[in-house]
Amino acid sequence: MTEGQPVQQAQPPAPATPAAQPSHNLKGPFEATVLFNKPLRKCFCRMGLQFTGAGAEAFAKTRPGQFAQFDLSHISLPAPETIPDCLKDDAARQILLRRPFSFARVAKEAVPPAHPGAGPTAQPKPVSSGVGKIIVEVVYCVLGPATLRMTTLVKGNSINIIGPLGNGFTVPAGKKRALLVAGGMGSPPLEHLAQVLTAEHPTMDAIAFAGAKTKEDLPFEKPLDNLSREIGFWLGEFARYSISSFVATDDGSAGFKGLVSNCLIDWLSQNSISFNPAEAIIYACGPRSMLATIAKLAREKKIDCQVSMEEIMACGIGLCQSCAVKCVAPGGIPVGDKGETYKLCCKDGPVFDAKEIVF
Ligand SMILES: Cc1cc2nc3c(=O)[nH]c(=O)nc-3n(C[C@H](O)[C@H](O)[C@H](O)COP(=O)(O)OP(=O)(O)OC[C@H]3O[C@@H](n4cnc5c(N)ncnc54)[C@H](O)[C@@H]3O)c2cc1C
Ligand code: FES
Repeated sequence: MTEGQPVQQAQPPAPATPAAQPSHNLKGPFEATVLFNKPLRKCFCRMGLQFTGAGAEAFAKTRPGQFAQFDLSHISLPAPETIPDCLKDDAARQILLRRPFSFARVAKEAVPPAHPGAGPTAQPKPVSSGVGKIIVEVVYCVLGPATLRMTTLVKGNSINIIGPLGNGFTVPAGKKRALLVAGGMGSPPLEHLAQVLTAEHPTMDAIAFAGAKTKEDLPFEKPLDNLSREIGFWLGEFARYSISSFVATDDGSAGFKGLVSNCLIDWLSQNSISFNPAEAIIYACGPRSMLATIAKLAREKKIDCQVSMEEIMACGIGLCQSCAVKCVAPGGIPVGDKGETYKLCCKDGPVFDAKEIVF
């Protein structure tokens, strides 16, 4: 399926008996209200979205690594003079397909208790309104017509969203140490994972590694001051969960000079004495080449590893097969005679056990 063809907006098939559908199967579409949309640096922005009602109920259960499909087709372009030259040709392209985004943070806003004696409104609330408001934060990079349009959204605007979709990162039993490795725009789901690890696995020791070409290509609000760096808290987005972080840049403009995978190798060699591979797990999201390197490293060091593949997607709900990922594991669509299969990134992923993927 390509953008050039007039296609219908992907919608999940309507459930035959909506009333009988368990609530955890609800995927929308839902309307989310923009709470804020602020530029971070270079082409990066961070947007806060609020869900209420059934949307809040669905997104309250979002797992780190899951994603949602955003309908950005009706949003206006920014003023022509503000569009970067490199995007001028692409900007006018019609948006026919929804765009996938993962989440950097998901927070609940509690429902205020009903006022005693407030009459009928003080009755127990149905489950759907008990969740209150759910605020999700998205970090996005302006790359083309849809993300360019996203920059024009302001507080009070709404976006139609299907999700949460796909699977998410998991914490296998017995794991005591998590190594979060982000390359470029791979950091949002790992930021969300940091939030969840701190809340749900407080005894787990986590550390984050974030890499990019230069310091300007790091999709974070701002690195912390020198003292914070010295004690290991480079990035505020992880420090807020008391998770220390390392930064790697290809040109050495910040942190370790070189690839983030080499930064991880360095750290592993310096911490080999206290490190038990069987109790550790690597979670990675970023460019495919980085994921391939991390998967190989994990295999060599006998560390479990989960990778979020984030392939280019069209429908996002398992219908078009445009997001096929070649796997060694059974259970997908067979390919060739080596026992390999194709799995769908949007449905079977985007998070996979690194051992499953044929890189
Ligand atoms: C599961 C998932 C989660 C994602 N999460 C985020 C996120 O949190 N933040 C974010 O900024 N982006 C994320 N993306 C990528 C995002 O969907 C694209 O950047 C967006 O669709 C671009 O739309 P556009 O119209 O602005 O640009 P387009 O014109 O559609 O694309 C611009 C350029 O980016 C390339 N591109 C598009 N999608 C991808 C992709 N998945 N991987 C590599 N290159 C791509 C295109 O080939 C093209 O060269 C995610 C993608 C997936 C599949
Ligand atoms: S994006 Fe259509 S099947 Fe995955």
